[in-house]
Amino acid sequence: MGCLVPAAGLGLRLGAGRPKALVDLAGEPLLVHAVRALRACPLVGPVVVAAPVGDVPAVTDLLAPYDVVVVPGGASRQESVGLALSALPPGVDLVLVHDAARCLVPGSVVGAVIEALLAGADAVVPVVPLADTVKHVDGTRVLGTVDRSGLRAVQTPQGFRRDVLVRAHAAGIVGATDDASLVEALGGPVVTVPGHAEAFKVTGPFDVVLAESVLARRAAPGGRHAR
Ligand code: CTP
Ligand code: MG
Repeated sequence: MGCLVPAAGLGLRLGAGRPKALVDLAGEPLLVHAVRALRACPLVGPVVVAAPVGDVPAVTDLLAPYDVVVVPGGASRQESVGLALSALPPGVDLVLVHDAARCLVPGSVVGAVIEALLAGADAVVPVVPLADTVKHVDGTRVLGTVDRSGLRAVQTPQGFRRDVLVRAHAAGIVGATDDASLVEALGGPVVTVPGHAEAFKVTGPFDVVLAESVLARRAAPGGRHAR
């Protein structure tokens, strides 16, 4: 089981003045938390990290204990995943793609995605129901309320048969915000497994507060990792 980790984003919404992957959470860079979460899963083999172009040497040093390959990322998430995919060693038939920004993903979510792949799925995404009411708008005018019962928010890791992911990335589709949507665009089947609140994406400043409080709870006496 290979794993690609897009970590090359600028983190503009976080606004920390440096790439999000290198921002500290409870004393360690976000990317270290993310790679550690993946390495905690015994079935995860080769890991390829797409790092911010100017930070490849620093990221290589940072991740030296975790046996990963570091490549320079691209201008978009999709490009970064494509570049990491090109660096995945041969002989790896199943691949996870995991956003570094979902750095606290519980092992149960990684395990559920892997299990679905091993059971034969072409493409797998972890999902959670929406908590908020969702409205369709035009500027400030509300056009209507969307029935959220059939909607899901999608997390990572997403899992793929390698040949399916390679074909999806070679299809010339632009602007995708995840990898499963590339498979969907080609008409391929994608299945869901349960995601988890702790697999949230660190995006803005509040998410750092949330992440540090999750880490503090895990580190507290009797604190346990989410299942
Ligand atoms: N990513 C990447 N290469 C890019 C852009 C994003 O590898 N050119 C990665 C990010 O590092 C992150 C994941 O894709 O792990 C999800 O992206 P996002 O949360 O949007 O992170 P950023 O692009 O860094 O943040 P922002 O959009 O606020 O600048
Ligand atoms: Mg982004």
